[in-house]
Amino acid sequence: MTAHNFNDNVADTHYLLDDQSPLPKPSPRVVKENKILDLFSLKGKVCVVTGSGHGIGLAVAEGYAQAGGDVVFWDLQAPEKEALKIAQENGVKTKAYAGDVTDAVRVDEIIADIENEFGTIDVFVANAGVNIVSGTIINEANADGELWKKVMDINLNGVFYCSRAVGKVFKKHGKGSLIFTGSMSAHIVNLPVYHSAYNASKAAVVHLAKCLALEFHDFARVNAISPGYCDSGINDYLDKKTRQRWWSLIPMGREGLCKECVVLICTSLVMLQLTLLVLNWLLMVLTLLFDLSQIFVFNVHVLL
Ligand SMILES: NC(=O)c1ccc[n+]([C@@H]2O[C@H](COP(=O)([O-])OP(=O)(O)OC[C@H]3O[C@@H](n4cnc5c(N)ncnc54)[C@H](O)[C@@H]3O)[C@@H](O)[C@H]2O)c1
Repeated sequence: MTAHNFNDNVADTHYLLDDQSPLPKPSPRVVKENKILDLFSLKGKVCVVTGSGHGIGLAVAEGYAQAGGDVVFWDLQAPEKEALKIAQENGVKTKAYAGDVTDAVRVDEIIADIENEFGTIDVFVANAGVNIVSGTIINEANADGELWKKVMDINLNGVFYCSRAVGKVFKKHGKGSLIFTGSMSAHIVNLPVYHSAYNASKAAVVHLAKCLALEFHDFARVNAISPGYCDSGINDYLDKKTRQRWWSLIPMGREGLCKECVVLICTSLVMLQLTLLVLNWLLMVLTLLFDLSQIFVFNVHVLL
């Protein structure tokens, strides 16, 4: 039997006992940068986005390239064309991988390959996800539990496999930023559609971000964003009447654009260990207040 080293399994909380100051560490010093936009630059950073062949992931990958980052695209089919176009338009290095995030062996393989080729990984967005509607759980469609397992496997287990592999890379290099695409469905129950598997998977993803923010606190930051409805195509399975019902419940009266979900994780002034952004709600409020048609929400952090 293997003897466990319990020191590896518990967070170091000695400071809670020994140190009465609100912060266990001094704030990072930001001295070199003198322009705010420099703090958002991803120049020299290696950014990986799963599910980046389409929708929110593609918009995020393009946003990162526009911010100067080298970007790794990753989807079920390698997004070669998108990666090439975005590299040419932005003068950055890109690479496209094909891989199912539910295949733990393939996930490990891709992450090892990226580290070999790019030297490290600075930002990893675990974004790949699906919404398979199966109706109420007492439906015939749910009798064998396969739909439930499939949603959990992609939305939750896939995030776990990616986090486990990239967490080791972050630990080795002493830095990193891990971002999950959660959903407003992690926090509320949408109506009128029944998709309890999706909602439960996203709630678990958001809570996993909180857990890993603690586990990785010495070497990486972990955040989850929670977009509202976005017109990426993921919701096209619904009839227009149902979509209109959604729109009627959104103060702005529309779904978000994928571009509005672009979250830039970069060097910064603000230190947050965990940020949950319920984007549509924030966008609605800001848009109503300031009449902004497009807002990029910057999740600003120090990558030390
Ligand atoms: N669009 C919305 O309304 C909305 C709202 C909240 C959260 N989200 C979340 O945002 C993320 C992106 O969704 P989107 O709206 O851009 O949808 P999308 O369908 O446009 O993009 C999802 C991408 O993930 C890929 N993917 C699916 N399963 C995969 C797997 N097993 N391995 C690798 N890649 C896989 C798909 O091929 C696709 O390119 C998802 O996690 C989704 O749950 C979307």
